[in-house]
Amino acid sequence: MPIAKIISTGSYAPEKVVTNHDLEKIVDTTDKWIIERTGINERRIATEGETTSDLAYKASVTAIERAGINAESIDLILLATFTGDMPMPATACLLQSMLKAKSAAAFDISAACSGFLYGLSIADAYIRAGTFKRILLVGAEVLSKFTDWRDRNTCVLFGDGAGAAIIEASDGDNGLLSVDIHSNGDMASLLYMPGGGSKNPPSRETNDNSMHYIKMKGNETFRFAVRTLEKLVVDALDKAGIDSSELSLLIPHQANMRIISATASRLGLDMSKVMVNLTKYGNTSAASVPIALDEALMEGRIKDNDYVLLEAFGGGITWASALMKW
Ligand code: ACO
Repeated sequence: MPIAKIISTGSYAPEKVVTNHDLEKIVDTTDKWIIERTGINERRIATEGETTSDLAYKASVTAIERAGINAESIDLILLATFTGDMPMPATACLLQSMLKAKSAAAFDISAACSGFLYGLSIADAYIRAGTFKRILLVGAEVLSKFTDWRDRNTCVLFGDGAGAAIIEASDGDNGLLSVDIHSNGDMASLLYMPGGGSKNPPSRETNDNSMHYIKMKGNETFRFAVRTLEKLVVDALDKAGIDSSELSLLIPHQANMRIISATASRLGLDMSKVMVNLTKYGNTSAASVPIALDEALMEGRIKDNDYVLLEAFGGGITWASALMKW
């Protein structure tokens, strides 16, 4: 049976940099607090006209060029986001048009920060079933347009960006070994955006009450994330019969340095085996894991036959892991 293999990646982040010192001027916060509590120094923010599909397009073009393929040969486009260009059509369809990927089916995935890994599980199933052979999977977000820039609890955390991967069917042993996805909708109120859907359609009231912005119970989310991710990564390696000492690189969702360190420590991993780039980008939700994967590859931190573990956690609540032999 064929397995799914990432053959190339690409990523893109907007040019505009917003530092912690810039945020000190708009909310009651300090550079010191943000670095100590999150590890973030700066984030990239889209310009007014820049959309999620624009970022997704740039990351995808790089991945397509690096794969040396033609966009018309892509069978399926999966785009993970909760900040799409508009509620309908799917941003994946807009991306398909921009790429001129005429043969592809296209749809969006809504799993917040876990979206890229949910996408990997969908790609994996289609490839194993023989339905599709070549898939473009993208995680892209413009969180800045759904961030309340008066709320210091959230505005210091998020950034914009996109990461893309070309996934193909492979007959060898190298590729995606396992992928696990989980959700707990009972905890939806930890992290949500209340306005704009059928529950609270856009209105003067939703606008006046800032309901179109991301709301988060940070501390509860933090505690649930640490507990859940520690178990998730241990289970992923146990199931595969791989000892953590054999792991070459952990690529975690880039939400908070303290969450990342706790997960690494549970596996007994030295931080040199953990990909961290949240210092530059903050939390880019569905884009976080594919941007980190792309940068790890570009930095030469992943070699053939390396075991690489990806994990993520986000709104839903959702969480997921993926283990690969590169
Ligand atoms: N600057 C200064 N002080 C602040 C700031 C800020 N930017 N933000 C909060 N504070 C204050 C709070 O008001 C609070 O003050 P109080 O004690 O007087 O009430 C104090 O700092 C401590 O607040 P906590 O929320 O307890 O701080 P905590 O250590 O938990 O850190 C944080 C907050 C960074 C949000 C952390 O909880 C976190 O990272 N949570 C997880 C986020 C996450 O992983 N989300 C999932 C993915 S996101 C997605 O799916 C889109």
